Amino acid sequence: MFSNERYTDNSVGYNFCGNSGVKLPRISLGFWHNFGDDCNQQQAVEMMRFAFDHGITHFDLANNYGVPYGSAERNFGKIIKSDFADYRDELFISTKAGHEMWAGPYGNGGSRKSLLASIDQSLRRMQLDYVDLFYSHRYDPETPLEETMDALSTIVKQGKALYVGLSKYPDDKLRQALLILKRNGTPCLTAQYRYNIINREIETDILPTVKQENIGMAVFSPLAQGVLSDKYINSIPQGSRITRSYANDVLRGLVNPQTAEKLIQLQTIADRRGQSIAQMALAWCLQRSEITSVIVGASSVKQLSDNIKALKNTEFSSHELLSIEKIF
Ligand SMILES: NC(=O)c1ccc[n+]([C@@H]2O[C@H](COP(=O)([O-])OP(=O)(O)OC[C@H]3O[C@@H](n4cnc5c(N)ncnc54)[C@H](OP(=O)(O)O)[C@@H]3O)[C@@H](O)[C@H]2O)c1
Repeated sequence: MFSNERYTDNSVGYNFCGNSGVKLPRISLGFWHNFGDDCNQQQAVEMMRFAFDHGITHFDLANNYGVPYGSAERNFGKIIKSDFADYRDELFISTKAGHEMWAGPYGNGGSRKSLLASIDQSLRRMQLDYVDLFYSHRYDPETPLEETMDALSTIVKQGKALYVGLSKYPDDKLRQALLILKRNGTPCLTAQYRYNIINREIETDILPTVKQENIGMAVFSPLAQGVLSDKYINSIPQGSRITRSYANDVLRGLVNPQTAEKLIQLQTIADRRGQSIAQMALAWCLQRSEITSVIVGASSVKQLSDNIKALKNTEFSSHELLSIEKIF
């Protein structure tokens, strides 16, 4: 049913997750949007099939992905059952908890109560026995770090996740959390943070920490939610993320004439490299040795197919890097 070339000629290739024995595909597929009940389910199946056919073995979810919350996991579970039942051992599935999910005091945050309930809910929705990776989705200043880390370790010890990860923790909390997880015997496999040509915040502290601690780094929104492409340069296409009810402030803050002006300059560099802006933006993330995988979102197979072509050229000259820096 799937291409025999998925790990050879068609493959996106793999990087080790820090000093672990686990490899992640250089491009992973994210399920934040485009897989909920508000989306075309046939398209969702086709994107997953296309991804796997190209060696994209890592699917990234969270308890609250999709409209309504939980629907991305539920739809994912249906597709896993219908199409991937024989391939579970070839897949690396992650989910997360920590943001608002259900009503009341336990449906949000990093308490033991919340995380242990959330992993059970996620497994039920996805019809899985275990996930490969379970993330604390955010640092929760209202819960002691030890409590959150101990809950993650419990989830591994219960066999409900093979590894744990941390997303969006401030650097000092990340360092403390890494220590606690190591002490618990469940070291952090990978960090997950926003990173793209426009938003380079993690370069100052997080990337040096990841390098020093030798853990994996999966980056999200590598296309700045689609802004790093030609789609918003001249107009706002119908159905694009900015037009959807779930468009967030980060995206709204980026779609403006000033960004469009910069994208036109980026286009010139991308043209010289024989890439689209989106392809160059993905390649740009991957040229950094700390980055294990870029987690892309896609609203069509065509986008995913175009994005994979970024891997044909992930080398940058110092002149190209400098020119990109000057624009953003
Ligand atoms: N840990 C966290 O807190 C966190 C936060 C956010 C995301 N994530 C993870 O990271 C994943 C990716 O995030 P993201 O969706 O923001 O990533 P992204 O790849 O920056 O943005 C995806 C959007 O870009 C557009 N796009 C993709 N390929 C394109 C192409 N070739 N040409 C033009 N437009 C293209 C599509 O927008 P249109 O819909 O407009 O077509 C698509 O929905 C999420 O699914 C999730 O798994 C994690």
